[in-house]
Amino acid sequence: MSSLWGGRFSRKMATSMLNFSQSTEADTRLIPYDIWGSQAHALMLARQQIITETDLGPILTWLDKALTDFQQGQLVLDPAKEDVHMNVEFYLIEGAGAEFGGKLHTARSRNDQVLTDARLYSREQILAISSHLTGLSRTFLNLADQHTTTVMPGYTHTQHAQPISLGFWATAYVSLFLRDLKRLAAAFETTNSNPLGAGALAGTTFPIDRDFTTRLLGFDHLHRHALDVISSRDFIAETLSALVILMANLSRLSEEIVYWTSYEFGLAKLDDAFASGSSIMPQKKNADVAELMRGRFGKMLGTLVDLLTNLKGLPLGYNRDLQEDKPPLWRAFDTIEDCLQILPQMLQSMTFNTDRMADLCQANFSTATELANYLVKERDLPFRQCHEIVGGVVGKLSQQGETFANLEQTGSFLKEMGIKIADVDLAQILDARQALNRNQSVGGTSPTEVKKMIKEFSETLSHIENQIKRQTEQIQQAYHRTQQLVQEAINGS
Ligand code: ARG
Repeated sequence: MSSLWGGRFSRKMATSMLNFSQSTEADTRLIPYDIWGSQAHALMLARQQIITETDLGPILTWLDKALTDFQQGQLVLDPAKEDVHMNVEFYLIEGAGAEFGGKLHTARSRNDQVLTDARLYSREQILAISSHLTGLSRTFLNLADQHTTTVMPGYTHTQHAQPISLGFWATAYVSLFLRDLKRLAAAFETTNSNPLGAGALAGTTFPIDRDFTTRLLGFDHLHRHALDVISSRDFIAETLSALVILMANLSRLSEEIVYWTSYEFGLAKLDDAFASGSSIMPQKKNADVAELMRGRFGKMLGTLVDLLTNLKGLPLGYNRDLQEDKPPLWRAFDTIEDCLQILPQMLQSMTFNTDRMADLCQANFSTATELANYLVKERDLPFRQCHEIVGGVVGKLSQQGETFANLEQTGSFLKEMGIKIADVDLAQILDARQALNRNQSVGGTSPTEVKKMIKEFSETLSHIENQIKRQTEQIQQAYHRTQQLVQEAINGS
């Protein structure tokens, strides 16, 4: 037998057609999942008496051998056998003989099979990525914890805006990543439902038990509608959307690292181990990790565009176009995992120039809003008027090349506008650290608020970490339960 569907054909498939259509490269990472899915299917067929116990023994024995071969690196997919499903089935038929091996595909189609494999693999990837992201968030929380009182300029339009703390900046990323984690959790939920038993598209006339395979494969629920699940790739679209948004966020972080480590900004320094030099300019030290991460966003967005463009015009049912769903998904998983592995290492080894951060806060009017606020509170003036007054003072100081650091000049310009503030008071109002302490509104940059946020985010992260642990255990338990039943069946107990 050279093909599993040769009966209707009088000529062999052209080599060029085979080369064009085979998917063994993308399918290789699905091998263990294809075997697990086949084990669960075979156990179910026997339990429902669709095949006999006599059939089950050799089927499971040879699937088990396939697994061992795979684990020892000996099961390599043959492109001549088109895909992972046919490779595994061929292995079984060659080993167990067609009278047994040929029964495994009863009440099953490659259409529900490929979805089963892809969902089993993807849900683990989503959990692994989520776990990396909680790790990265913890790195930011640690940084935040050390720097709740470290002032730095906060930026809008990349111009000095108001003083914030480095800890406040770091917790902003945690707040953001918590939403990425939520999106990943939603993608996990959509992904983790059982397509097996949908058959080619219509279900089957055999008395299968889909709940049983749902349990054995550790799915949270059964994807009931056969035609819908066979056509469904929105779990991939949802996963890719979550990953692309996450990548956009990592790209923004990368951008900050690139310019924070520039000579002009000088806010941070990369460890030599996470920077690279130039082949011609001896002095160069470049933030290549951040640049590459920023640069990889295009590739990530491409994966989502690729998938959605493919899906957009497809009628329901299986269409071979759908085979093209896996390479972009794999690319997205691999890209994000690479980024999430290196980021914490790079961040932990980075140093922050906290003196420069503090200097910059006093160098360029970042406390101007504080002065306006003081006038509102203490002089009972409307905010617009205070804005006008302080704007006037800033304008005049700038013209003279001065800043608020020249208290005397600042005070005298204020006096010209009818505002008298003693120098000691002015010094306090314009001090960045004190401004920070005063920003006590919920979610603001004051150390008290940042500490509260660190605590709250840390609790939410613990909750997510526990959830990931539970989900991982559920998958492992289901896997072990399947292997246990397989061994019992093989040993005839
Ligand atoms: N290699 C195929 C894929 O990835 C498996 C399903 C094939 N189904 C079919 N009806 N040709 O989509």
